[in-house]
Amino acid sequence: MLRISILSFLLICLSVVSCRNNDDDKLEDSNYELEIPEGFPAFSIDEDKPITELRVELGKLLFFDPILSRDSSISCASCHKPELYFTDGLAISEGIENRIGFRNTPSLANLAYAPFLFSDGGTNNLELQVLAPIEDHNEMDFNVVEAAERLKSIEKYRNLALSAFNREPDPFVLTRSIAAFERTLFSGNSAYDKFTFQNNENALNEAQKRGLDLFFSEKAKCGNCHSGHLFTNFAFENIGLYQSYEDIGRQRITFDFADEGKFKVPSLRNVAKTAPYMHDGSFATLEAVVNHYNNGGAGHPFQSTLINPIGFTEQEKQDLIQFLEALTDSTWIEPFL
Ligand code: HEC
Ligand code: HEC
Repeated sequence: MLRISILSFLLICLSVVSCRNNDDDKLEDSNYELEIPEGFPAFSIDEDKPITELRVELGKLLFFDPILSRDSSISCASCHKPELYFTDGLAISEGIENRIGFRNTPSLANLAYAPFLFSDGGTNNLELQVLAPIEDHNEMDFNVVEAAERLKSIEKYRNLALSAFNREPDPFVLTRSIAAFERTLFSGNSAYDKFTFQNNENALNEAQKRGLDLFFSEKAKCGNCHSGHLFTNFAFENIGLYQSYEDIGRQRITFDFADEGKFKVPSLRNVAKTAPYMHDGSFATLEAVVNHYNNGGAGHPFQSTLINPIGFTEQEKQDLIQFLEALTDSTWIEPFL
């Protein structure tokens, strides 16, 4: 009798254990339907990295979970706050134990199109990018292996990882799921988009229409760099912020002297909501940015030849700023508020 009960106890244990990895326990997964905004180019998903409902769900949970930082104090969303259009409102970001980072936190809209990441183009892979903040001493100060270990003991994460990737939480699962989530963040429903792609003549006011023309004009030349549906040509340019740069930008990556002070041309989508500006957050307002361009830069030796004194009238400055405000789209952040 005793034997039988021990045996059945063992059997129950075994079935519970095997059940955990059993296919029956898995959640249903399916392809994630990307909502690509009107007027945006088609986006081809890397066959190797399918975007599925569960991968996105897991990535989203991880993005908001401070468990990925050493002392479980901050998450990706501590710096990329949805309510601030996935920025933090600070000039320079602040990480674990209030450590000061070295650059301004960018928004995370439309990353699916990004050919590379960081303002110096330090990586071209969204999966690998995830490692940077987790391991950075001034950001989350942890490491991806230990972070994944933590996830293994949490039923919700184990289950999602097994269901979405057919493996336990590990660095592969962690980086792939966060990247999958990031690729779903499209923003393209601003007044400008309604005017341009949805035939809504009234979406822009008169000042914004003048600002739009001015932006792409020979006089202002903004559109020479801030071009395309994301308002960036993804080039690295020196816009003459300084005569001598403390942060050398692109040169950190290429070691090419001529790249000193070159930074990625940033997207201007939602720019009115993501102050302060530039790689170091040195401009507090759009007005300050427009004044910078109007003055023609500080005259750095490698300053782009497109940056010269412009001579905007007060009216033109206001029109340009109003146009930049028309690039705001709040629909993509709403699900997170
Ligand atoms: C302490 C603040 C902080 C935390 C925490 C943080 N980031 Fe960032 N993030 C930044 C800053 C600052 C940059 C810009 C760095 C640069 O350009 O060199 C950045 C850049 C990025 C970029 C590149 C965007 C682009 O367009 O080039 C992505 C993607 C990103 N972060 C995702 C994440 C994810 C995912 C996490 C969590 C695993 C995370 N970040 C955690 C501050 C933070
Ligand atoms: C030569 C290319 C070039 C031209 C021309 C140009 N920009 Fe820029 N713009 C950049 C680069 C590069 C940065 C980022 C610099 C940095 O991070 O230090 C930038 C940054 C900005 C930012 C700040 C974005 C942010 O999120 O921090 C705004 C706003 C902006 N530009 C608007 C304009 C306007 C308006 C014009 C026309 C008057 C213009 N730009 C002309 C290359 C250019």
